[in-house]
Amino acid sequence: MTLPSNPTIDLMHNHVSVRSFSGEPVSDEMVEAVVEAARRSPTSSNWQTYSVIVIRDAERKRRLAQLAGGQDHVAESQVFLAFAADIRRLSQAGSLHGETPAGGLNQAMVSIVDATIVGQSAQIAAESFGLGAVMVGGLRRDPQGVADELGLPEGVFVVFGMSIGWPAGDPLAPGLKPRLPAELVVHHEQYSDDDADELIERYDEELKAFYERRGRNLADAAWSAPVATRSAVRSYTDLAPFLLKQGFTLD
Ligand SMILES: Cc1cc2nc3c(=O)[nH]c(=O)nc-3n(C[C@H](O)[C@H](O)[C@H](O)COP(=O)(O)O)c2cc1C
Repeated sequence: MTLPSNPTIDLMHNHVSVRSFSGEPVSDEMVEAVVEAARRSPTSSNWQTYSVIVIRDAERKRRLAQLAGGQDHVAESQVFLAFAADIRRLSQAGSLHGETPAGGLNQAMVSIVDATIVGQSAQIAAESFGLGAVMVGGLRRDPQGVADELGLPEGVFVVFGMSIGWPAGDPLAPGLKPRLPAELVVHHEQYSDDDADELIERYDEELKAFYERRGRNLADAAWSAPVATRSAVRSYTDLAPFLLKQGFTLD
């Protein structure tokens, strides 16, 4: 079956994360075009509980690269965007009308979803110009360090960042990283994962072949083994206490 397509669908099918940049400048106009397009994203109840921090300063990018666990592409990016959940916006609205936000898990989630949607839109907008980008969730490993670096007030925390630049070489040359089979992640009418083991094993083989083609000799570089090992350990354990300190309530 041939699926219908158009330039937007083609762009989305050609998504790859880019971590290697040519160093050519990215104009302020182009960054603004990306951010302005992203700001058209849908937002829960029109609350717009997010902020985007645009970072150009080389020293700051270098420090953020360290805070993200030593991710060199952050320092090498032409521009780095930080997408923050921002419930301070609710306090700002409240103070105009003598109200205080009640907080709670849903308000925290609204802001995280808002920031995430804007971030994904920015990635698509950047890719539509031929720019390369990669999201950087690694910033959540040291949320206080990131907050200090970016001067974040109470009610604001960085959900993830994004390294952006012109790709060094053709980002599609290594091929597209295969995704889990649709049968596993797309359900019709009701959830069903009867064939999960078989589908995951099939994907393990596919992903292993992909990594081998790229010259990565990783014996168990398939999907399920590293996911199993890594998800067996709690990560970014500073995050929950930091969020509480920042005024996010999670109950
Ligand atoms: C929220 C989020 C955070 C991510 N954080 C990182 C990161 O810190 N470092 C990194 O190199 N890639 C990061 N990625 C990129 C993923 O590794 C990448 O999207 C995934 O491996 C699929 O590869 P592809 O995007 O090239 O298809 C992140 C992606 C998402 C959605």
